[in-house]
Amino acid sequence: MAKLEVTVSGIRFRNPVLTAAGPNVLNAHMMLQAVEGGVGGVVSKTVSVKPAHDRRPTIRRAVCRSMMNAETWAEEPVEKFLEYYHEVKKTGVPLIVSIGYTPDDLKTLGPLIEREARPDGFEFSTHYLGKDVEPLVESAKALRYSVEAPIWMKVSPNFPDIQEVARRVAPYVDGFVATNSFGPVLDFDPENPEPRLGSAYGQGWLSGPAILPISLRVVYEVVSVQDKPVIGVGGIERGTDAIKYFMVGASAVAVCTAALKHGPQVYGKIAREINDWLDRHGYTSVEEVRNLYRERLRERRVYEGIPVIRVDDDLCTGCTACVRNCVERALYMKGDKARVVDDLCIGCGYCMDFCPEDALSLQERQP
Ligand SMILES: Cc1cc2nc3c(=O)[nH]c(=O)nc-3n(C[C@H](O)[C@H](O)[C@H](O)COP(=O)(O)O)c2cc1C
Repeated sequence: MAKLEVTVSGIRFRNPVLTAAGPNVLNAHMMLQAVEGGVGGVVSKTVSVKPAHDRRPTIRRAVCRSMMNAETWAEEPVEKFLEYYHEVKKTGVPLIVSIGYTPDDLKTLGPLIEREARPDGFEFSTHYLGKDVEPLVESAKALRYSVEAPIWMKVSPNFPDIQEVARRVAPYVDGFVATNSFGPVLDFDPENPEPRLGSAYGQGWLSGPAILPISLRVVYEVVSVQDKPVIGVGGIERGTDAIKYFMVGASAVAVCTAALKHGPQVYGKIAREINDWLDRHGYTSVEEVRNLYRERLRERRVYEGIPVIRVDDDLCTGCTACVRNCVERALYMKGDKARVVDDLCIGCGYCMDFCPEDALSLQERQP
């Protein structure tokens, strides 16, 4: 049994799967359900100095088993949330309180919540601070100098230069959370083209599996330029999704959309799947897979020219999957083996992903 326990910014979590801020942690009831569902730590719904009021509808289905939402922050005041925090604290599971947004907001909320609820840490959302770096640094400094507990900055996936943000903010924070939902985005039903969300023109924020590759890239970039831990968030539904985040350097992960879709048991399910994957591959801890992607990146083969696909006849079973999926129609069947028209092959590699036998490889062209 692998060791699932992780320590991030000095906070010890029984497993690396946390809640991400959202309606999955809207109140004490939902946060306690997350704890029962096996979560390693609770990150609460973002509160700000004034309760939000979001015009309905706020949450709709989106492409690729994902979601589109027009929810901002909590619609209840911080005083109500203080009661919720006390309930979570009683469970002994670490509590990270999410707050937003401006330096003044953080200077008001941080000390109040620290004094009244003693959370294990804070996460501050930057979702509505725009895309300039300076306001982000100012919010980080404001919270850093007004609370004692560790603080994490939650980054949006669409900052123009995420590495600049990470470098500038790192001195003031204890970690980063990457990422928030992606957008704004727009989608609707052509049979009934009315706005599907209550926001200004029906736009919203994309979350769930559709954003996983975006968030994964952001985690990779943030880990690359600074030393503070990063919590990966975006599209995580199963253990292998989380493993990918660890491989690019995340120290823990957080989950929102999968919990909205499948309920709070999903946190424990993902934690068990992480454990099973680690056991199956002979790893004894999350730490052992951290940054494996980076190691492979250093070792990867770089082609000088345009390579060409080669078929290993001993492995090819003639299933035709590569022929059907060749983007340039360069593959064809001769008898029961796949063959390549070298002049048509552009060496893109797409066909390799469809061969169940691993019979295809890219090779340098012979002169
Ligand atoms: C309906 C909804 C509400 C959300 N509210 C918040 C919020 O209050 N604060 C915040 O930092 N992120 C919020 N998020 C973003 C999530 O915490 C998370 O970063 C994002 O959805 C990507 O993770 P996921 O694919 O697991 O949902 C919200 C997401 C959804 C879907």
